[in-house]
Amino acid sequence: MSGDFTIGIHDLSFATTQFVLTHATLAAYNGTPVGKYHAGIGQRSMSVPAADEDVVTMAAAAVAPIVSRHGSDLIRTIVFATETSIDQARAAGIPVHSLLGLPSATRIVELKQACYGATAALQFAIGLVRRDRSQQVLVIASDVSKYDLDTPGEATQGAAAVAMLVSADPALVRIEDPSGVFTADIMDFWRPNYRATALVDGKESVSAYLQAVEGAWKDYAEQGGRRLDEFSAFCYHQPFTKMAYKAHRHLLQYCGSNIDEGEITRVIGQTTAYNTVIGNSYTASMYLGLAALLDNADDLSHQAIGFLSYGSGSVAEFFAGTVVPGYRSHLRRAAHHEVIVRRQEIDYAKYRELHEQSLPVDGGDYRVPRETTGPYRLAALSGHKRIYEPR
Ligand code: CAA
Repeated sequence: MSGDFTIGIHDLSFATTQFVLTHATLAAYNGTPVGKYHAGIGQRSMSVPAADEDVVTMAAAAVAPIVSRHGSDLIRTIVFATETSIDQARAAGIPVHSLLGLPSATRIVELKQACYGATAALQFAIGLVRRDRSQQVLVIASDVSKYDLDTPGEATQGAAAVAMLVSADPALVRIEDPSGVFTADIMDFWRPNYRATALVDGKESVSAYLQAVEGAWKDYAEQGGRRLDEFSAFCYHQPFTKMAYKAHRHLLQYCGSNIDEGEITRVIGQTTAYNTVIGNSYTASMYLGLAALLDNADDLSHQAIGFLSYGSGSVAEFFAGTVVPGYRSHLRRAAHHEVIVRRQEIDYAKYRELHEQSLPVDGGDYRVPRETTGPYRLAALSGHKRIYEPR
């Protein structure tokens, strides 16, 4: 609450890629028992970008339905969170703004702290709306998760963009104070500027995540947050969906609560429906969890949801949201379903070809192959510039 008004997520829309690779296809290629993917890490398939898709095209596709529903007159700020940056200087929100023809009276900035970035963006957005409740902030989380071929991380790739309109008196979820925050200097996952794929110490990353869950919750409790049993569901960052279960089990243990697997599934299960078929989308992942929960659960009006946002390196935040009565008439269930089912399944050879492709870096003029059937595409490179167009 801020004075006499609440602040939070007014609308949420997501987009993903043209292509999808199933874990059954990956398992058949690399000889892994498919049960390790399906049951062990909880993944069925992963979104794979076409040659003419990137964080900008996915972001524009996620934002377009929001702008068409609400217009853009009240949006004065766009915060673009990504760890798949396309430029060291320029914010990826600028080409999105341009593709959508948004007003020039807008401030745009890009934020980075691994998968945590979108939560920082959401909190900054709330601060801006608190200062002037007539303004809306567009928060965009867009990422492509990419590891080296034939590594354990490969099965946890994916890609998606989530766009959220943050406003006063939101229609979906009110975000509450306080937040619990946590930082530790850990090299569990990182991507130096010269690499297209992330480096990761898999086991270390899982334990760093669990340590951050403890730290963020401890601070949340010390700041006077809700009790664990007040929450109806928990949205965790989901590098793979079984990580949400591990994290929640760990939190229950830390709090000395009873570990009841049925109850854990009840409070986590519905948040995994999109991530299990899209894969890791880094900054977007936890918010895809929220989308899945809102789209698929029975009426959650007035109920509290716990959010645990984790970004390797590491920074985490635990915060709470309350679902706004009437939210169901503002959801995008059918559109979200369509975004997932419209993807075209590819075989292993096509996946490998796309994985190995990289954009030329010589500054020459190149047309990018026309592959996506999505609304926006990366059309060309020229003079070291990416040229985007509506399709
Ligand atoms: N049937 C069923 N289950 C099976 C199985 C089978 N045939 N074979 C193995 N399993 C189970 C294992 O028992 C294990 O379960 P538990 O975790 O419950 O013990 C699970 O499948 C995974 O098996 P492994 O631990 O042996 O898998 P792995 O060594 O190949 O690596 C991974 C798993 C570390 C997650 C790897 O995919 C990876 O490095 N991923 C990238 C990093 C990552 O996602 N880290 C998560 C935390 S960091 C973060 O959250 C930020 C981010 O987005 C990157």
